[in-house]
Parts: sequence; C-alpha cells; structure tokens
Amino acid sequence: MAPERSTGNRIGAEDIRRRKGGVPIVCLTAYTYPIARMLDPHVDLLLVGDSVAMVLHGHATTLGASLEMMIAHGQAVMRGSAKACVVVDMPAGSYEVSVAQAVASARLIIGETGCQAVKLEGGVDMAAQIAAIVAEGIPVMGHIGLQPQSVDKDGGYKIKGRSRENIAALFRDAEAVEKTGAFSVVIEGTVEAVASDLPRHIAIPTIGIGASGDCDGQILVVDDMIGMTVDRVPKFVKEYAKLRDTIADAAARYADEVRSRAFPGPDHVFSAASGKDQA
Ligand code: KIV
Repeated sequence: MAPERSTGNRIGAEDIRRRKGGVPIVCLTAYTYPIARMLDPHVDLLLVGDSVAMVLHGHATTLGASLEMMIAHGQAVMRGSAKACVVVDMPAGSYEVSVAQAVASARLIIGETGCQAVKLEGGVDMAAQIAAIVAEGIPVMGHIGLQPQSVDKDGGYKIKGRSRENIAALFRDAEAVEKTGAFSVVIEGTVEAVASDLPRHIAIPTIGIGASGDCDGQILVVDDMIGMTVDRVPKFVKEYAKLRDTIADAAARYADEVRSRAFPGPDHVFSAASGKDQA
C-alpha cells in the first residue's frame, strides 16, 4: 500500500545508528495520521508501538496487539510523516515461534507499511530471530530490560537490574542484540545505575524509557507525554500537556450548548442566501 507522505528524505535506521554518543535521539510513539503529522517535524524516530493495543484499543496489556493492528497503524503513521524514521513493533506471537515466522512477519510489516524498521522484544533468547531479519536487509531495533510482552511470564511489570544475576543477564542481552546487527536498542524499566552503564558497553544507540538520561536517546508513549492517558500514568512519564482536561472541558461545554440549543449558531448552518455548496 502506498505510504503517501513518504519521501526520499526520511531519516533511516543507519542515520540513527550513526547518532551513537551524539545529540540525544528524540523518539515518541505514534499510532495515527494526525499525531504523526504533528510529531514528525520534532522527532527523529516514530515508533508504532504495540502499546497501541492498550492506548487506543483499551486492551489490558500489549498482548492484545495483532499483526493486522500494527500494519493498519503503521500505514497511518507513514501517511502522516515525511521525515522521521518509522519503526513498527512486531506484536507478541508474530516472531517468537521460529526464525521463519519472524522473517515472514517482518517482511509483511515492511511490505505493507513501507516503514524503515521493525522492533521486537528480547535479548539472548531472540538473537536468532533478530539476526535472520537483519540478514533479509530489514533493520531491527531491539528491546531489553522490562519487556511488556512478558508481563504474564514475569508476574507483572517488574523493574529490571535489581539483582546481580539480572544485571549480568541485561549486559548479556545488550551484547546479544548488538551482535545480531540491530541498529539500536530500547532499554525499558531498568534501575538507573545499570541503565547508565549499558550505553557505554555497546556500540549501538540505546533508547531509554524509565531507564537513564545517559542513554543515547529517549522515548515515551505519546499519549502519556501529552496527558491523554486515562488509566495509570507510569512514574517515569513527564506530562508536557494535560489534554485529558482540555478534552473533558470541550466535551462539557459542547454538551451544555447542545442541550441549551446554543449550538449550532448562525455561523454553523447554511443560509439559503449564501449560495455556498462546500461544507
Ligand atoms: O510499545 C511501545 O510503545 C514500546 C515503547 C514503550 C518503547 O515498546
């Protein structure tokens, strides 16, 4: 499907890789056309995260995401952006079973959306999948530390890097992702002292979320960042706006005006005299 706003001037995965240790890489999630249009001028990378299942579709976890869902939102974000590197998440169940499944799903996402790269969760355990997708010429972003797709296996959203064994496992995961040829890696929900060491340990950019300011870039879920999240807002989020309140206020004023017949007013109806045919 043609990504209408896609131009030849997009930031690519290799451009992101080269930003290691430089000016921090600005990343946000995006799921829709209008949000992509608004964010595109300001960010380096837009992630069509599987968080879309929770944020826009009301699922309890990201396990509610499907390939179809990720592709539809990936297409919308590609249509709404012209500059950012667009990365689409591989949903749970689309890559873990085998290398062949992972490659087929990655190809489908790239083919249907025209996005620049895919992301998947896992370190040592998913190294074969990442390497195989990279060998197909498809750039991959890794995701280590807290992995939301493992919420059931982990018994909740548990911060990583609290024990010696877990810290060692995180370093092994980071090394494994780097070795597979991934162009960058998200580090999520990890003790700051550990997350600030990881960027020095590997040569690919680290993108932090609930991690450390020492990462090579930062990412937030856009709805969290603009204050649209209606359920629990995680501790690591900074709300740069409070759109929840703005929307509730607009809805309340609209409801009042409809009930009192103040809306629609003369400016919002078509008079017979104006002769205008366009809404
Ligand atoms: O799905 C998502 O939004 C993510 C980010 C939080 C990194 O994976």
